[in-house]
Amino acid sequence: MKKFLVIGNPIEHSLSPKLHNFWMKKNNINAFYEKKKILDGDLKDLIKKVQMGEISGINVTVPFKKKVIDYLDKLSPGSEVTQSVNTICLNGKNLVGYNTDIDGFELAIKDVNYDVSNKKILILGAGGVVPSIIFALNKLKSRQIIVSNRTKEKAENLKNLFKDIEITNWGDVPEFDMIINATSVGLKNNDKIDLDLSKINKGKFFYDVIYNPKETNYLKEAKKLGNEIENGRKMFIYQAAAAFELWHKIRPEIDENVNALLDD
Ligand code: ATR
Repeated sequence: MKKFLVIGNPIEHSLSPKLHNFWMKKNNINAFYEKKKILDGDLKDLIKKVQMGEISGINVTVPFKKKVIDYLDKLSPGSEVTQSVNTICLNGKNLVGYNTDIDGFELAIKDVNYDVSNKKILILGAGGVVPSIIFALNKLKSRQIIVSNRTKEKAENLKNLFKDIEITNWGDVPEFDMIINATSVGLKNNDKIDLDLSKINKGKFFYDVIYNPKETNYLKEAKKLGNEIENGRKMFIYQAAAAFELWHKIRPEIDENVNALLDD
């Protein structure tokens, strides 16, 4: 029976096994998918198991998306630019790293019919997922991307990957059409982003990468003020679907059952 893994630390809360096992069963694929908490020192041996065929594919999450690159033979163009890998496949003899977070964000935005082209986007945060979001926004031809992060240096570092982005101080809220929360603030129910967003005119698009809780205080507030909102659930589902397709060459169906599965 084929084996797939998602590796990270922490990993307890990952919903990837639920989703992949559901789709594999539905498509009569004789395989199972597990989560595994690892340490830096475990990476090398684990990746070797993919090379040996003992593991058929790996999803990678925080904090290994960059670290894993050292052990791979090739990178997809998206993972090369973002220096971020969330899916590993063995193609012939080559261990290849892909970044399906890019597809996840792009497809989620298309799914809600928001036209990013020519829009001014403000990103809050500069952590692991932000390069993938910027790559997707560039692909979708956004007009301007501004990044604001509590630790400014981390935002400045993103300029090494994407020279056209602008950086603004944490606490300053410039004009925008779409704002993306890519910080971890909101994961806990009473978390509140330390920014005054009340002066923003209504009719903007507020996106949150967080999908659990479904509505962070940031999204609740934005909705109250008359803005469009969207959480990160679709991004999560689409990144998983893209990984599934890379491994099994089948595009899994995204229907009500998938949503119900994640609501459990
Ligand atoms: P990593 O930085 O390891 O990739 P992450 O969860 O992807 O981890 O990123 C966390 C993001 O949330 C960072 O941008 C972090 O800001 P710092 O770079 O200043 O740490 C941001 N973040 C976390 N707690 C925050 C808070 N209380 N206020 C504002 N930003 C916060």
